[in-house]
Amino acid sequence: MLSERLIEALNEQINYEFYSSYTYLAMAAFAQSEDLDGFANFFRVQAQEELFHAMKFYDYVYQKNGDVTLEAIHKPQLKFENMIDVFERGYEHEQEVTRRIYNLADIANEEKEHSTISLLKWFIDEQVEEEDNFNKIIKKLRRAESNPAALYMLDDELAQRVYVAPATGASAQ
Ligand code: FEO
Repeated sequence: MLSERLIEALNEQINYEFYSSYTYLAMAAFAQSEDLDGFANFFRVQAQEELFHAMKFYDYVYQKNGDVTLEAIHKPQLKFENMIDVFERGYEHEQEVTRRIYNLADIANEEKEHSTISLLKWFIDEQVEEEDNFNKIIKKLRRAESNPAALYMLDDELAQRVYVAPATGASAQ
């Protein structure tokens, strides 16, 4: 059984993961409007990953006999200057997600809630990959800045990204 404080914090994170999905779908729409289908694909896959994250927390709350309370999702940023701007906002977003996951881990540690600590370990590891993905693409975009052909090569590369649900499946563990 989870404390009220932890259930509330987990519910906040569920909301933030749905907001993350919406944020990346807005970035996909921006890329689509710029005719960059590969970048749009990258963000559509990212949006799916965020839904998986939300549902992983959602399932966990019920597995621990808590209740999920769905709140309104904030409107995401819709306008961007260019793809570097998009990825910089995405990178900042992932750093904020990491900060929130660490905060959740601090609460779980304070309460010695070991199964939640174990769940959050998965998310802490996932965040290393999430931040790295964005940072690497920012570096490539900066190198491609004065070379439009390089931007289209990167667009082709990102068109290859495919959503693969983690092996753990949609339920927590
Ligand atoms: Fe759910 Fe990209 O963190």
